[in-house]
Amino acid sequence: MTAPNSDAGTAAGGPPPVARGLAGVIAGETAISSLDSGLRYRGYGIEPLARAADFEDVAYLLLHGELPDRAEHGRFTARVQAAAATPDRTVIDALALLAAREPEAAPMDALRTGVSILGQITRDEAPGPHAALVAAAERLIGQVPAILAAWLDLVAGRPVARWPDAALAPALLERLTGAAPTAAAVAAFGATLVLYAEHEFNASTFAARTVVSTGSDMHSAIVAAIGTLKGPLHGGANEKVLEVLAAIGAADRAAPWLEEQFAGKRVVMGFGHRVYKHGDVRAKLLGELCAAMVRGTPGEDLETLARRVEEIMLERKGLRPNLDWPAARVYHALGLPVKVFTPIFVVARMSGWTAHVIEQAGDNRLIRPLSLYAGPAPRDYRPLGSR
Ligand code: COA
Repeated sequence: MTAPNSDAGTAAGGPPPVARGLAGVIAGETAISSLDSGLRYRGYGIEPLARAADFEDVAYLLLHGELPDRAEHGRFTARVQAAAATPDRTVIDALALLAAREPEAAPMDALRTGVSILGQITRDEAPGPHAALVAAAERLIGQVPAILAAWLDLVAGRPVARWPDAALAPALLERLTGAAPTAAAVAAFGATLVLYAEHEFNASTFAARTVVSTGSDMHSAIVAAIGTLKGPLHGGANEKVLEVLAAIGAADRAAPWLEEQFAGKRVVMGFGHRVYKHGDVRAKLLGELCAAMVRGTPGEDLETLARRVEEIMLERKGLRPNLDWPAARVYHALGLPVKVFTPIFVVARMSGWTAHVIEQAGDNRLIRPLSLYAGPAPRDYRPLGSR
């Protein structure tokens, strides 16, 4: 085995083991969430939060460390709403140019660009004091869903509509569907936001923490996080799930379709998880909620198909669904277009990302792992003229 690319391993008496994909590595401490005894946000179990808390309750908890009382909840909701209702003109103008140039661009890219512009025009250069970081986080939590809604208006050639006077879940749902949502729709949508809000050292959160660990700013960290979430092995999976369900079409076609994927060594989107090897508690919760939501509607057929896929995946691969599997079906049942599924994940995860950025900045050490060199043996350089 080649020595690691540093003196650290040899000084400690031999190279440390390589953890491909950092699997199983504890890369730091966090007080924001834990997976040890079921998923918990700052000690609170995910199930009561998903069933009873609204997004603002959870975002406040993640950012401030405690659940808000009613007055704090009201003020926080108002601050987030105000940020959403007053999008920066420069961002809208820039997005309008981009929408005219490339209307088919992914909304994820519009979010990444929008946050980047916000960082530039606010001259965010480094993590400031704690209070300034919390204020910036609250603004971003409101601005990101507003950027998403504005982008959809711009690519559709409509003027950017005003942000509804409502909490984030009903307001965003109204902006995405164009109609005031029912209480049941808000409850289901809100539950997905709560479940997507935070998940300790996942790839995008780790990317954000790595950026801020260098002394860089919150907007840069969020830009990196959005880019990381976009990938189909992470947040992008929720859009791919609907492609899977559409490709299979009906429950009796699930077995041959899946066998073809297994034979081709292709992963099935919405299944498996780096950390949950015995099932994702969030998927179970949201799956039940989704089934109840579509009971007695034409959407029930998709649930029957989903159940069949779950049975086969467990039987053949021992794999259970992750959160993206039911989340995609909830969004589909709510009438949302597939291209906004991953951006909605961004809207929710903004709360977790910003909480992690603040935590990392508050007790920072540069994140810089080692690699194991696997390239050519040492060799002599020959100047260009003699090659
Ligand atoms: N479909 C089919 N096979 C899968 C699979 C899936 N969704 N997820 C994992 N596997 C297989 C792997 O190919 C591997 O098989 P092998 O041992 O024959 O090579 C085995 O199960 C073990 O997988 P593992 O290496 O432990 O997975 P990981 O921790 O590296 O990756 C994911 C985790 C999430 C990236 C992976 O499960 C995946 O790609 N899932 C689909 C994408 C998805 O839904 N992402 C959202 C995650 S929340």
